Amino acid sequence: MTDSLYGGRTPHLLAIDDDDINLLMISRAFKNEAEVTTVKSGPEGLAWIAEHDADLVMLDFRMPGMDGIDVLRVLKKDQRTAEIPVIMLTGDISVELESKGFIEGATDFVRKPFIPEVMRQRVRRVLRYEYLQEHLEHEVKRQTALAEKRLENSRELFREMAIALAKTIDAKDNYTHGHSERVADYAKLISKRAGDDEEAQKRIYYMGLLHDIGKIGVAGTIITKTSRLDDDEYQSIQAHTIIGSEILRNISQFPDLSVGARSHHERYDGKGYPDHLAGDAIPRPARIIAVADTYDAMTSSRSYRKGLPQDVVRAEIEKGKGTQFDPKFADLMLQLIDEDKDYIMRDES
Ligand SMILES: [Fe+2]
Repeated sequence: MTDSLYGGRTPHLLAIDDDDINLLMISRAFKNEAEVTTVKSGPEGLAWIAEHDADLVMLDFRMPGMDGIDVLRVLKKDQRTAEIPVIMLTGDISVELESKGFIEGATDFVRKPFIPEVMRQRVRRVLRYEYLQEHLEHEVKRQTALAEKRLENSRELFREMAIALAKTIDAKDNYTHGHSERVADYAKLISKRAGDDEEAQKRIYYMGLLHDIGKIGVAGTIITKTSRLDDDEYQSIQAHTIIGSEILRNISQFPDLSVGARSHHERYDGKGYPDHLAGDAIPRPARIIAVADTYDAMTSSRSYRKGLPQDVVRAEIEKGKGTQFDPKFADLMLQLIDEDKDYIMRDES
């Protein structure tokens, strides 16, 4: 057996036959290519294999006491030995017996009297097949693990890039430090409460993280301005929704990422912007982000005021139900507020 036939390892054969001459012939036939253990009965063979590993069993059909089929059954029943290929050694054998052998799980047959070269060819073929099969399974597992690792890495890269982008947006306004990440967190919490599965929650998280990305395209002086905005300035600010959706629109793997950016300033009563959508016409993730966004805007400090007390925030969300917010998601936000007895869920910086 050459190295390539069995992965560079010397295979171990177990031969079970009550005939000494047969065992001798088998040992001789494989002396250059395998380790051979010979035993003279089924029970001896089973005892050996309980303690050792074999790559293949050569098993005599007719033996006194426990015959070959009995041994085969025991081997196939035991999980540890069930996969070991078994070649049955037969003298005169009927078609019935032969098919019985196959049914019980024999891999092949070798007829007596042995012709060493034929026996070697059969054993090589079986071992080679076994090796390839084992190797293939191993290779499939290895490739699958590699692909999963790559996918995980690219997901992690996406997550880190999205967070870096979110930080870039927030850096434009000193007073919105961490805003995007908090909105993403709250939006995800609402989505979870709404019964969304993990995948949907994750998508809403990213939509929340990048909802204000369009602010990159708005002058910093307008974003940080604390006095009243004139009409032009107000329009520029509003444009962040459209700029954001344009920036995100071409991310082919995640086409609805732009939805949160475009529609998070829509109002449930239709008085929002940029498309003046109302009710369920506003994409669902945007309705969720709208509540999360407002919650964070109220609970965190701004250039012109400190974060508001929890009861004031609660009252504002309650008031906005059905006008500013989808009542369903406003209610879920109210639940979160009510459970947050110590008012931990806010920006404390
Ligand atoms: Fe916004």
